[in-house]
Amino acid sequence: MLEVRGLGIRFGGLHAVQNVSTALTPGHITAIIGPNGAGKSTFFNLISGFYQPTSGSIHFLGEDITRLRTHEVVGRGIARTFQTTTIYKELSVLDNAMIGHRVRTRAGVLDALLRTGRERRDEAASRAEALRALKRVGLSDRAHLPAGALTQEGQKRVGIAMALASDPKLLLLDEPAAGMNPEETVNLMGLIRELVGGGLTVALVEHKMSLVMGLADEIVVLHHGQKIAQGAPADISRDPAVVEAYLGSHAHGGQMGMAGPAQEGGTPRA
Ligand SMILES: Nc1ncnc2c1ncn2[C@@H]1O[C@H](COP(=O)(O)OP(=O)(O)OP(=O)(O)O)[C@@H](O)[C@H]1O
Ligand SMILES: [Mg+2]
Repeated sequence: MLEVRGLGIRFGGLHAVQNVSTALTPGHITAIIGPNGAGKSTFFNLISGFYQPTSGSIHFLGEDITRLRTHEVVGRGIARTFQTTTIYKELSVLDNAMIGHRVRTRAGVLDALLRTGRERRDEAASRAEALRALKRVGLSDRAHLPAGALTQEGQKRVGIAMALASDPKLLLLDEPAAGMNPEETVNLMGLIRELVGGGLTVALVEHKMSLVMGLADEIVVLHHGQKIAQGAPADISRDPAVVEAYLGSHAHGGQMGMAGPAQEGGTPRA
């Protein structure tokens, strides 16, 4: 459904993403992994239109979306969450989901936040989409609580609902399990499976290997901006180039964490 060819972006002299080609299979969960700074978030930023690539192309459902802006990409059916949770803790869970809907489907945040005439007309539609999204993440009964009153896991669900409020076909999750304890991580995995069961396609960046290995149909490995491997979890965990990339990574203390859940350690970042 999503096809990227020769995708790249340079920041000055740094190739943050370089010549990456891959395709996402509909109905699959694809994990993007790699050491800190490998270009994973940048890859998502390229797909979702936050950055314009300096080379390569992105096609979604047969359409060239390489040069589209973020709200246009959302309009085509791709939504994403951010590595750093960006929910409004004082506002209600429902308001957050509604903001998610508006901000993602409008050209500008101002346009979304100012109550213009069009905005008022659209309010009912936003609310309906937001409520639907909250139901999908299991937060219907907490819609009127302040988002900040929810647990870490609950707040992550709010972030996912904000993305789901635009009713995407493809959902990009950037480190959804960061900061979660093992039990919350398992719950999140259940949620992601449910969403995929309902017809969504998911690509996620994650350092927690228990989640990656337990969830992914396919894994793409980035290292220094380049794709060094792609395949089924069992094959990736044995791939010499992948092992080498992780062993060489100081950020992971020389631990690849591929052996199993015992080694998972969240997101090491100095
Ligand atoms: N806007 C930017 N300007 C300049 N350099 C950037 C920018 N965004 C990312 N980079 C650089 O690009 C490289 C890849 O960053 P990116 O955030 O994509 O890594 P990552 O794989 O998501 O890492 P992590 O696992 O730590 O989240 C890094 O060296 C980063 O400093
Ligand atoms: Mg990142």
